[in-house]
Amino acid sequence: MLVKHTTGNNRIIIAIDGPAASGKSTTARKVAEKLGYTYIDTGAMFRSVTLKVLDLGMIDAVRQFPESILPLLQDLTVAFRGERVFLDGRDVSAAIRENRVSREVSFVSSLAPVRDRLRRMQQEMGSRKGVVMDGRDIGTVVFPDAELKIFLVADARERAKRRYAELAAKGASGSGLPDIGMLEQEILERDRADAERELAPLEKHPDAIEIDTSELSIDEQVGKVSRLALEKIASCAMTGKS
Ligand code: CDP
Repeated sequence: MLVKHTTGNNRIIIAIDGPAASGKSTTARKVAEKLGYTYIDTGAMFRSVTLKVLDLGMIDAVRQFPESILPLLQDLTVAFRGERVFLDGRDVSAAIRENRVSREVSFVSSLAPVRDRLRRMQQEMGSRKGVVMDGRDIGTVVFPDAELKIFLVADARERAKRRYAELAAKGASGSGLPDIGMLEQEILERDRADAERELAPLEKHPDAIEIDTSELSIDEQVGKVSRLALEKIASCAMTGKS
């Protein structure tokens, strides 16, 4: 028997994956705004766990004995309120973007208990659909049935320039601002770690639509993804699939 699963208003799941600084979060946030959907930044969730490990001074212990992370995951909460991220009730929106977190996040993200815990939280957050979720494994692992899967790519130099502009806009200056070459190296290193890890590596789902954003403005990439989303919502409405 075919049971029609109605979630109201033809809400779908939009998964946006891709390497560091490829424009996922800006695109995802703006597309969500246009559609009246909820934006979920899964990178912020992995960054929050990493911050928790660092703040507890446990990074070396976890590197040596990965299972020592388990108690810390038990009482973990990560919540989004507007653009702000709360770790165990504390606003960590700025702290999770610090370089010390960026440097360790790929390692912490490679641990099975971390991925299990966050995957379950993400699946719960998307269970009523109407979400745009960005990350590395959303279309492949978290929501392989997402109605729309996007894979954003851009060349590494361009991505480093964007990250530089982002840091400068956030007020980092002078010695606090790494040079573009160094950012490019860090980005390439993180891409390598994310793509080569055993669990949920960064890879494109065969159904995902790849968009190269190297030469696109934010408005252009948002426009492209929004059009694809509206087409998909309309076709799901016609077939009664959402
Ligand atoms: O914004 P940026 O591209 O720098 O990265 P992010 O989206 O904040 O993600 C930070 C890190 O979290 C990534 O480099 C991955 O190691 C990890 N991550 C992951 O493993 N799976 C996800 N779904 C999202 C992020």
